[in-house]
Amino acid sequence: VTSLRSYGELYDQSVRDELAATIQDEAERLNRFVTNLLDMTRIEAGVLEPGMAMIDLGEIVGTVLERARKVLQNHRVVVDLAADLPMIRVDFVLFEQVLFNLLDNAAKYAPPGTAVTLRGRRQDDSVVIDILDEGGGIAPEHLAHIFEKFYRIRRADRQRAGTGLGLAICRGFVEAMGGSVTAANRSDRGGAVFTVDLPIPPVSLP
Ligand SMILES: Nc1ncnc2c1ncn2[C@@H]1O[C@H](COP(=O)(O)OP(=O)(O)OP(=O)(O)O)[C@@H](O)[C@H]1O
Ligand SMILES: [Mg+2]
Repeated sequence: VTSLRSYGELYDQSVRDELAATIQDEAERLNRFVTNLLDMTRIEAGVLEPGMAMIDLGEIVGTVLERARKVLQNHRVVVDLAADLPMIRVDFVLFEQVLFNLLDNAAKYAPPGTAVTLRGRRQDDSVVIDILDEGGGIAPEHLAHIFEKFYRIRRADRQRAGTGLGLAICRGFVEAMGGSVTAANRSDRGGAVFTVDLPIPPVSLP
């Protein structure tokens, strides 16, 4: 901002565009960071009051893919929602944030060009959402810890923007909505899979 304001006229248009794009990226990063900190604070203060409603998973998926378009731009996104999925009972905003954080990780920790898959299926009395990537997966000794706040596995992970709050927020939000979220490694190939399990509410609930 300082460069643009003080010396803007000395740069040609392409340099000015590049500076403006950097400002936008960093502002978005800062916004995500502050949002994460606030979300974590709300979870820990116990003041999270999810506004639960019956929602079509496809609608939330559409919204989150739109918001995550930039972070997923170097990956191939595969969406696979079973046709007979019942409505889920969630807080739209909180649940969209859960999916965003998981997609953000898939994009961040799996190499560009690989596929990020979002799968929705029914299993017994739950709707189960899996987010699968084709990265290096997660070593077994870390699996139990990655949902802790500020937990980041590799030194290299710390060079990428992030604070280690994304998954702690996912778990806090999902549990506040009566569901659960777990991490594992894929059995069909390399990569991580995060699974969100949402119990299907009895028909009488609004
Ligand atoms: N899909 C994944 N594949 C491999 N490792 C992962 C994956 N998702 C998360 N991790 C590991 O778990 C750690 C915690 O993830 P988390 O989302 O909580 O934090 P973060 O991505 O580092 O930062 P942010 O607060 O921006 O989300 C990551 O630093 C990374 O080491
Ligand atoms: Mg993250």
